[in-house]
Formats: sequence, C-alpha cells, structure tokens
Amino acid sequence: MIPAGPQIKLLAPVLSNRMITPGSYILSFQAAEIAGTARPGQFVMVRCGTGSERVLRRPLGIHRVNFTGPAKGEVSLLYSVVGSGTRWLSELKAGEYIDILGPLGNGFSLGPANRRLLLVAGGIGFSPLNFLAAEAVKKSIKVTLLLGAGTARDLYPEELLPQDIEPVMVTEDGSAGKKGLVTDYLKLFLPGVDQVCACGPLGMYRAIEARRKLLKETPVQVSLETRLGCGIGACFGCTVKTRTGLKRVCRDGPVFDIDEILWSEVKI
Ligand SMILES: Cc1cc2nc3c(=O)[nH]c(=O)nc-3n(C[C@H](O)[C@H](O)[C@H](O)COP(=O)(O)OP(=O)(O)OC[C@H]3O[C@@H](n4cnc5c(N)ncnc54)[C@H](O)[C@@H]3O)c2cc1C
Ligand code: FES
Repeated sequence: MIPAGPQIKLLAPVLSNRMITPGSYILSFQAAEIAGTARPGQFVMVRCGTGSERVLRRPLGIHRVNFTGPAKGEVSLLYSVVGSGTRWLSELKAGEYIDILGPLGNGFSLGPANRRLLLVAGGIGFSPLNFLAAEAVKKSIKVTLLLGAGTARDLYPEELLPQDIEPVMVTEDGSAGKKGLVTDYLKLFLPGVDQVCACGPLGMYRAIEARRKLLKETPVQVSLETRLGCGIGACFGCTVKTRTGLKRVCRDGPVFDIDEILWSEVKI
C-alpha cells in the first residue's frame, strides 16, 4: 500500500456543501497543501464542532482532488449523515471554515503493469474509489466500477462520476441498473481484470472473501472503516487482527490486502 506522507493541520475555507442523494453530501474546501500530496485511499480527520463540542475528529475519505484548472487546490469529501458530527458538517456553508488534519493513512496502490481495474463500491464506500478511478484513468488503466445502493434514489449520480470509466449500477431492489448486490456481479466482470479495489460495509468484504476461489490470484485491496480515536497511530484504538499481528486501521491502513485480514476476528 502507498505509505502516508506529511500531514497538515489547517483551517480551510468551504467552497460548497451540497446534498447529492438523500442524506449524502459532497463538501469541497480549498486546501492546495492537501490536494498536492493526497493519494487515493487516504483520509482526513475533520473537526465536527467548535469549542468543547465533539473534540474527537471524524475520519472521512478523500473523494476528489483538483490539481489543475480553475478548481486547483480543491479537495472534496463525500459523506452520509449518520450522527451528530456528520449532521453538524452538513450544516456548514460556503465561506465558513473547516478544521482538517490530513492526508492520513496508507492508500490504494496500483500495480505497475495493471491495465484493467475493477472497483467494487458499496454505498458511501464509493467515496475514496472516485479519487482512485480518476488516478487510474490518468495512467491509461481501464476502469470498471460496480456501484451499489439499496435503491435508485440512493445511487451516486452518474453524471458526477469520473469520465472514461465503465460504470455498472446495481440496486438491491432493482429500481435502477442491475438487481442485487455488487458482489453478485463479480464473476461477470472479473475476466481480464488485473486488480480489484473495494470499499463498503463489512458484509461486502465477507462476500468478496467468500468468493476468493473465483478471484484466483487477482490481488484485492479493501479499505476498512473502524471507529477511530486519534486517527494518527497514537492511541491503538483502531486495531484489527491480521496474519502478521495487530495493525492500526488509521496508520497501517485503512487500505489492506484482503488476504492479510483475519476476517473471522473483525468486528466493525
Ligand atoms: C478511514 C475512514 C474513512 C471513512 N470515510 C468515510 C467517507 O468517506 N464517507 C463517510 O460517510 N463516512 C466515512 N467514514 C465513516 C465516518 O467516519 C463516520 O460515519 C463518522 O465518523 C460518523 O460520525 P458522526 O458523529 O456523524 O456519528 P456518531 O454519532 O459518531 O455515530 C453514529 C453512528 O455511526 C456509526 N459509526 C460511527 N463511525 C463509524 C465508522 N467509522 N464506521 C462505521 N460506523 C460508524 C456509529 O456506530 C453510530 O451507529 C470513514 C471511516 C474511516 C475509519
Ligand atoms: S485511531 Fe488512534 S491509533 Fe488508530
């Protein structure tokens, strides 16, 4: 996995914060220092409050960065409102400031000889895979994205996806795209793929793991989302059991090789 570089703490001006599906938002802020160093799969720790309110920062994956053009230095986060911190975040307006620490963690790494990449995204798990898809396209890697949601209205809008990728929409109720779970379509889209990268709920990883024989030797990287404390490797509050001992999700991950994790021991 790609190792973490220097981390930056800053107050960044919010450029926009808009709802894209019910309860999910894209928040963009200006932070050239982070845009210039962040790698796909890395995350930032966001202060979701002021004063003594929610002093523990919340981790959010880096969804998109702009290096060039009029939006140069812009960093975007994709998040779902699940509790008080993300609700506070959803009320931030353009022109206000956001307190950010990052980029943090070890991101995805693309094999140098890769020509075809399969991305598997469960719901809001698409967040870091968007950045990865854009990077892969720049390297002339053909990207297929299996993008899942419960129902049509919760699907990430197709018009916001990076250009030049092949999106395959999947909904559990069949209200848009293919019906079922993204993992039901692994077999169909696996032939010819050099690498799989996934982000989503634990159940999705268990379903990929259960299809290990089907994947044969194809390397699979997954991004884990445990509860984090410090986010910088200091508190050991985020450890997972791996074949080589306990690893910190925030510092050694959040991206791991799927074969490294002892899945029967993981409780997220
Ligand atoms: C490395 C990393 C990257 C992440 N990237 C994203 C992202 O890009 N977009 C996004 O929407 N979310 C992401 N998350 C999850 C996000 O951090 C939590 O949803 C957020 O911290 C919730 O804060 P809150 O104050 O709103 O909710 P809380 O009030 O803290 O919790 C509300 C509910 O959410 C659950 N919850 C809280 N944190 C997590 C977590 N880490 N994993 C699973 N359930 C959790 C709680 O158990 C509780 O049921 C990421 C987590 C990690 C570890
Ligand atoms: S959250 Fe503190 S070590 Fe990972």
